[in-house]
Amino acid sequence: MTTVGFIGSGNIGSAVARLAVDAGHQVVLSNSRGPGTLADAVAELGPRASAATSGEAAAAGDIVVVTVPVTAFPDLPAAALAGKTVIDTCNYGPERDGHIPELDSGSLTSSELLLRYLPDALLVKAFNNIFHKHLRALARPVGAADRSYLPIAGDSAKAKAAVTEFVESIGYGVVDTGSLPDGWRQATGTPVWGTPYGPFSNEKGSPAGENAIRAALAAATR
Ligand SMILES: NC(=O)c1ccc[n+]([C@@H]2O[C@H](COP(=O)([O-])OP(=O)(O)OC[C@H]3O[C@@H](n4cnc5c(N)ncnc54)[C@H](OP(=O)(O)O)[C@@H]3O)[C@@H](O)[C@H]2O)c1
Repeated sequence: MTTVGFIGSGNIGSAVARLAVDAGHQVVLSNSRGPGTLADAVAELGPRASAATSGEAAAAGDIVVVTVPVTAFPDLPAAALAGKTVIDTCNYGPERDGHIPELDSGSLTSSELLLRYLPDALLVKAFNNIFHKHLRALARPVGAADRSYLPIAGDSAKAKAAVTEFVESIGYGVVDTGSLPDGWRQATGTPVWGTPYGPFSNEKGSPAGENAIRAALAAATR
């Protein structure tokens, strides 16, 4: 059993939290407005869930999921996240985040930008390439013929091993994309982003196995 802290509890945060609770993990949710606004979400998740401030969620987590807009990166509790395994689900979208020249040019990935704000965290990019409804719908147990795979990218082998174990526990296999900078291969608009799991209009999604995810990562260009 792992305690998973969440900084951000919106679409993707609550989907990961649901799967984590169902797999027997503890979750500690947080958002920008304070724990009192998460009472309904906690009640829905049940006794393995609680709400806290983002600093408290960061401190509580064996693994911490950062799942916020890129514009929230400067507000993250860097000291509490030092030395922690941190899952980065975040994508850059200029229509939401405003234009950030280094991200527009591709000279920096959003995960490398996040690392500037969390220099002592062990970042692993994961869950950024799948629609939150598909994430909920496509979870399957180990050994299922239609188990889907998710790519992860990060610089720490230890953190990637911890994230792999967590992702596998909540219903997915893992493909290693490579280092954190290699995470451009799973960024917004690449072949592995969204497409392998089917159109957003089909909320059930389509299972995407290991070979499909490996092929999509290999097909990425920039
Ligand atoms: N939606 C998807 O299917 C999907 C899939 C993969 C990746 N992503 C990426 O994952 C990230 C989250 O997406 P989402 O769709 O879950 O967004 P969302 O539904 O808008 O939720 C964002 C969450 O971040 C919280 N937040 C915002 N600023 C914060 C701050 N300064 N400190 C703490 N929490 C803060 C919000 O809290 P409040 O509500 O209290 O402001 C909210 O809980 C984004 O980068 C997105 O691009 C999304």
